[in-house]
Amino acid sequence: MDEARRHLPEGYSIRLMTEEDYAEIAEICRRVYPTERPYTAEELAAHHRLFPEGQFVVIHEESGAVAGAHFTLIIWMIHFHLDDSWDELTAGGSFADHDPEAHTLYGADLFVHPEHQHHGLGKALTLATRELVAHKALWRMVGGSRMPGYGRLADALEPVDYIAKVKKAEVTDPVLTAHLHDGWDVVAAIRGYLPHDEESKGWAAVIQWINPDCPPPPDFDLTKLPRKN
Ligand SMILES: CC(C)(COP(=O)(O)OP(=O)(O)OC[C@H]1O[C@@H](n2cnc3c(N)ncnc32)[C@H](O)[C@@H]1OP(=O)(O)O)[C@@H](O)C(=O)NCCC(=O)NCCS
Repeated sequence: MDEARRHLPEGYSIRLMTEEDYAEIAEICRRVYPTERPYTAEELAAHHRLFPEGQFVVIHEESGAVAGAHFTLIIWMIHFHLDDSWDELTAGGSFADHDPEAHTLYGADLFVHPEHQHHGLGKALTLATRELVAHKALWRMVGGSRMPGYGRLADALEPVDYIAKVKKAEVTDPVLTAHLHDGWDVVAAIRGYLPHDEESKGWAAVIQWINPDCPPPPDFDLTKLPRKN
């Protein structure tokens, strides 16, 4: 977590999630995902049991409060479609599909408490996961980026055209813009990733970051994955 620590603003620290964080994590989820059921303590305990080194939290030192989190698991992308939902990719949120022998770190969730956003915490949490990818010599990290600015433009723009505008910085998206600033590449626009995500009209961008020291062999490029729709 050295690189992540170097990037953290003063007054914050980063560490792996522990049991004492569960209630605060659920509370942040209620704030940032009002239409989703927050994680239960049992779910977070299962993530911790399956892959403790993939669950990161940032702490606001003065208050001792959790300010943000990043949850990951290692999966076989070959077992999935490019347009599978969050539920499918995370085995219903259980992370039971985590397999340390696989090659892709999947970013199941990244969120920062609204009072701590725009301080660089999302970036530090992203750097922590990239260090994990490097440490484990994985091929890449993959995620699904919400695009909550899309809903209000959905009548005028196709999702791919919206993404193109966000990439050109003609439009700012509250989430996708942050991911692009953090060095993610967009692979595809998919529908139904988070079906209740009304702000994104159910759309999301599949994003990836390739490990420059250990990229996937060409046959395992993400764009080769079939779509189900
Ligand atoms: C997406 C999210 C995690 C970003 O966290 P954050 O701590 O505010 O992000 P950071 O401060 O680290 O910003 C990262 C980069 O994005 C940029 N950025 C962040 N929000 C931005 C915005 N609304 N507009 C323009 N740029 C933005 C920052 O300038 C920074 O880029 P830089 O390093 O080149 O300056 C946060 O907004 C969040 O929790 N959203 C709600 C939950 C959610 O939807 N998570 C995503 C699930 S896919």
